[in-house]
Amino acid sequence: MLDRQSTAEPTFDFEAFRAEEFGRLDAAGIAYLDYTAGALYGASQARAHAARLTAGVFGNPHSEHLASRNSAEVVEAARAATLAFFDADPAVYEVCFTANATAAIKLVAESYPFTRDRGLVLTADNHNSVNGIREYARRASAPIAVLPLDAELRLDRGGEHLRAAVARRGAGLLALPQQSNFSGVRHDLVLVDIAQRLGCDVLIDAASAGACGGLSLRRYPAEFVACSFYKLFGLPTGVGALIGRKSALARLRRPWFAGGTVDFVSIAKDRHALRAGHQGFEDGTPNYLDLAALEAGFAFLERIPREALRARVVGLTQRFLDEAVELRHPNGAPKVRLYGQRDMDERGGTAAFNLLRDDGQVVAYEAVERAARDHGVAIRGGCFCNPGAAETAFGFDNERLAACVDALEGRFSIPALREGLDGAAVGALRLSVGAPTIDADLDRALSLLETFAGT
Ligand SMILES: Cc1ncc(COP(=O)(O)O)c(C=O)c1O
Repeated sequence: MLDRQSTAEPTFDFEAFRAEEFGRLDAAGIAYLDYTAGALYGASQARAHAARLTAGVFGNPHSEHLASRNSAEVVEAARAATLAFFDADPAVYEVCFTANATAAIKLVAESYPFTRDRGLVLTADNHNSVNGIREYARRASAPIAVLPLDAELRLDRGGEHLRAAVARRGAGLLALPQQSNFSGVRHDLVLVDIAQRLGCDVLIDAASAGACGGLSLRRYPAEFVACSFYKLFGLPTGVGALIGRKSALARLRRPWFAGGTVDFVSIAKDRHALRAGHQGFEDGTPNYLDLAALEAGFAFLERIPREALRARVVGLTQRFLDEAVELRHPNGAPKVRLYGQRDMDERGGTAAFNLLRDDGQVVAYEAVERAARDHGVAIRGGCFCNPGAAETAFGFDNERLAACVDALEGRFSIPALREGLDGAAVGALRLSVGAPTIDADLDRALSLLETFAGT
């Protein structure tokens, strides 16, 4: 499927790829446009994994027999492939396998040495799996600061605000997404260097950066990176990783020990010794059969030249942005409100938007989500676990929001929140593209938006 033009630029036949590997989408009549939530596995990738399981004998890797060694080998190969994907020097970085990105982030959250003088800096754009770190910081009475977003949902003078936060409250842990799961914005990773010069550690949440994320840890040597593999190539689910600098992992203080993480435990003497490196962070038996699927996943990704994939994602997303913004009501009023920037500069294949009525009022996102489901268009509705980006996008008045949440007294619901905020947008729609996306998928989504008649 790979062909080379005279310029020697790699190109790729995405239409043939879709037909060969994702024919099931067309058989099921689904225009899948939810790649930020989860990538899809290719048919040959699933077959390769099934063939490996069918032919191999894999036992618990904590034993010493051959079946155990087979599992240990696939786990170590998966570790090496993960380091290679993030362009991480194996002499500097370790891979700790986890259940997902959330579990990887929690490993840092629960073990980070937060104190009154060593706090947490979050970007306002973060998934709740990162926002939740603040509860560990709070428990240690550590200061917490939030870096604001601008109207395009990019960090608003990130370096300046970070310097001010550190000057006020001291250095600590900075946590930010590589790419927003709300707006698709790719944040400027120059912040990694700024933060480290200020004495901070940096956690990059790479979960929603997708297959063409291309994070290089040689270029941006963050202390920690979290990812989930199903977001890269669909199969396996249930496996993520914390990629950590060895020196930074050694500074974490795990709050407990478990099977697999200890060299020594004495009940009589109430003592234990944690294992060094990744072994001290992998609780219990690793998910070795799913880890065995990483090889087929990475091989599947490698079939598509990264530059060709990036160009494809840019082209499809730009098309959606351009056409959505042109949709009009008969009275000329716009039908779609896009959130974030309109161009594809430093942005991935994710777009957030709401439908508007002809009087400019926001259509409840749930109604659009329902219509999309009825038409086989797979897009996501809500705030995508990213309340900070949503609050900026919807232009919430913070005091009004706080009063409204207080008034609801724990009886929180989306309709009640909407009513309390006078019909403001309280959730959006998110469309995201991936390697299998073809123009016909976008045609279906755009035609749904164009013809949507609900309120
Ligand atoms: C930016 C971001 N971070 C973290 C997560 C959490 O990933 P997981 O649910 O795989 O742990 C997600 C999931 O959508 C995400 O988009």
